[in-house]
Amino acid sequence: MTDNGRVALVTGATSGIGLASARLLAGQGHRVFLCARDATAVADTVKSLQNEGFDVDGTTGDVRFKEQVAEVVRAAVARFGPIDVLVNNAGRSGGGVTADIADELWDDVIATNLTSVFVVTREVLTSGGMRHKKRGRIINIASTAGKQGVVLGAPYSASKHGVVGFTKALGNELAPTGITVNAVCPGYVETPMAQRVRAGYAAAYDTTEDAILEKFQAKIPLGRYSTPEEVAGLVGYLASDTAASITGQALNVCGGLGNF
Ligand SMILES: NC(=O)c1ccc[n+]([C@@H]2O[C@H](COP(=O)([O-])OP(=O)(O)OC[C@H]3O[C@@H](n4cnc5c(N)ncnc54)[C@H](OP(=O)(O)O)[C@@H]3O)[C@@H](O)[C@H]2O)c1
Repeated sequence: MTDNGRVALVTGATSGIGLASARLLAGQGHRVFLCARDATAVADTVKSLQNEGFDVDGTTGDVRFKEQVAEVVRAAVARFGPIDVLVNNAGRSGGGVTADIADELWDDVIATNLTSVFVVTREVLTSGGMRHKKRGRIINIASTAGKQGVVLGAPYSASKHGVVGFTKALGNELAPTGITVNAVCPGYVETPMAQRVRAGYAAAYDTTEDAILEKFQAKIPLGRYSTPEEVAGLVGYLASDTAASITGQALNVCGGLGNF
């Protein structure tokens, strides 16, 4: 793989959209550093991407904890150098009947999906070296749920609206610096998280996961879930030089689900 001289950090890259994004960025010639919480998954993912011929490394790290975020960024810089591309991908689902939602669930969804985006971004801009560069890319994986309400998904929807707002504000702030900031908003994407979401709705509505799948697919104009690779395709484009004039945007990859 020809090295394009750029370093990318992808959070939550052992599965789904994060893994597809790490693979695509590595295929574009980025040196890719990744993190997730499960040490075995991190080791296996790094090994398999290296076996595919990519310049990839990673470490364990939980984006909910500032000290761990600092350690991940420190490790990335030590391994590959200052960071050019950040993909804030780590996230979780979470919701239920709002009147019954426990403080712990609300706090954890906001910490994982929203506060982490601020904390990782700040760390990458400072100790990650991005703010001293003339070019940078910050790509936040939000959701179409960051633009419209999702029934039984108030914490998730609130967190993703927050990511979209953060993206727009920071995109304006950093525009003069050559660092672009954008959100990618997937609709339904077939990943382990999507399976967990279907299981949650099947329990809430007392029906089967297949019935939920059918219901969700019926809402999507394309009639199917997007793939992680289709979402990663937009991540790769936003990381490219051609995307230099796109900033502060929240762009959907959703089979037409979000028409806004
Ligand atoms: N799938 C969809 O339909 C869909 C739609 C819209 C938006 N999204 C968004 O896309 C992103 C990726 O989702 P996905 O479907 O690819 O999920 P996934 O398959 O469940 O993968 C999530 C990844 O994030 C990591 N992760 C989770 N919590 C973390 C934490 N606290 N610190 C560090 N890493 C963490 C997981 O590894 P560990 O568990 O080992 O940490 C895993 O690598 C999320 O932000 C999600 O909200 C997904």
